[in-house]
Amino acid sequence: MKILLLGKSGQVGWELQRALSVLGEVVALDRHGAEGLCGDLSDLPGLAQTVRRVQPQVIVNAAAHTAVDKAESEPEMARTLNALAPGVLAREAQQLGAWLVHYSTDYVFDGSGSRPWRETDRPNPLSVYGQTKLEGEQQILASACRHLIFRTSWIYAARGGNFAKTMLRLAREREQLSVIDDQIGAPTGADLLADVTAHALRQILPPVGHNYLVQPGIYHLAAGGETSWHGYACFVLDAARKAGQDLRVGSDKVLPIPGSAYPTPARRPNNSRLDTGKLCATFGLSLPDWRQGVARMLTEIL
Ligand SMILES: NC(=O)c1ccc[n+]([C@@H]2O[C@H](COP(=O)([O-])OP(=O)(O)OC[C@H]3O[C@@H](n4cnc5c(N)ncnc54)[C@H](OP(=O)(O)O)[C@@H]3O)[C@@H](O)[C@H]2O)c1
Repeated sequence: MKILLLGKSGQVGWELQRALSVLGEVVALDRHGAEGLCGDLSDLPGLAQTVRRVQPQVIVNAAAHTAVDKAESEPEMARTLNALAPGVLAREAQQLGAWLVHYSTDYVFDGSGSRPWRETDRPNPLSVYGQTKLEGEQQILASACRHLIFRTSWIYAARGGNFAKTMLRLAREREQLSVIDDQIGAPTGADLLADVTAHALRQILPPVGHNYLVQPGIYHLAAGGETSWHGYACFVLDAARKAGQDLRVGSDKVLPIPGSAYPTPARRPNNSRLDTGKLCATFGLSLPDWRQGVARMLTEIL
């Protein structure tokens, strides 16, 4: 099997390089491309050309404009990367008969209510990022290519910067921390996303799998359980102290604050919970609680 992976150096892309490698040949690109192939999502003709040259059975797009606040001031670039580029990939996949795997976000919802969002719920994004990611989904659906769109939330990875590392640094530097407690979601490891992607591909692609029960479509994919950013921070600091880290701030000195006390250019949803029932039932999966993955990531970074 030949897989074209875009965005190979991002949090999810990096883990996908590992997880997809057992499925076949992976042609992995970042925005700089390689061997005359274009991996730059802002170069739409170049992207189409790349798909035609590689002729993959699967395209996995892990690249995106993920700077949520910056997207508010550069909506055209965000739209090109998050909506137009997936549209090009989808139409090329349709022409080739290839599958397209793409990642989207709970930010397509407005964060109202407290029930986990289902795939059938009506999107209503609050930000340019959410709006452009939603348009990307719509372009893929309109192309009629075979696709899996995984909507996820609150991604972290051991590699690069992440929320846990920021909390640990601030807990060493400051006397007290203030962290938002009215946005609720599930921190989800890039490694979990990559492993579930590989598992899903194994089920739908011959010769190993050919599960006709798997319908192309949108699937919600996030770790089990839920927490707030405040709960997430407290979990990280408690685990770090247990591991012998010298911190000035423990979880008892983390002040819960509302999101309204921490204004940002882009509005974030309060309810980022995703109902993963469809994914679990379709692919026979049980998703681990968020604490399990975060604890594992902490053992890597502490
Ligand atoms: N992060 C989250 O919390 C989160 C939550 C829900 C959904 N998602 C979605 O999950 C997917 C993966 O996110 P992630 O967390 O892995 O994001 P990430 O770490 O920010 O990775 C995104 C990648 O896209 C690349 N990229 C940016 N502009 C590009 C361009 N013009 N051409 C090619 N590549 C470009 C970036 O490359 P550079 O490093 O060179 O800029 C980066 O490697 C995205 O679709 C995102 O929307 C993310």
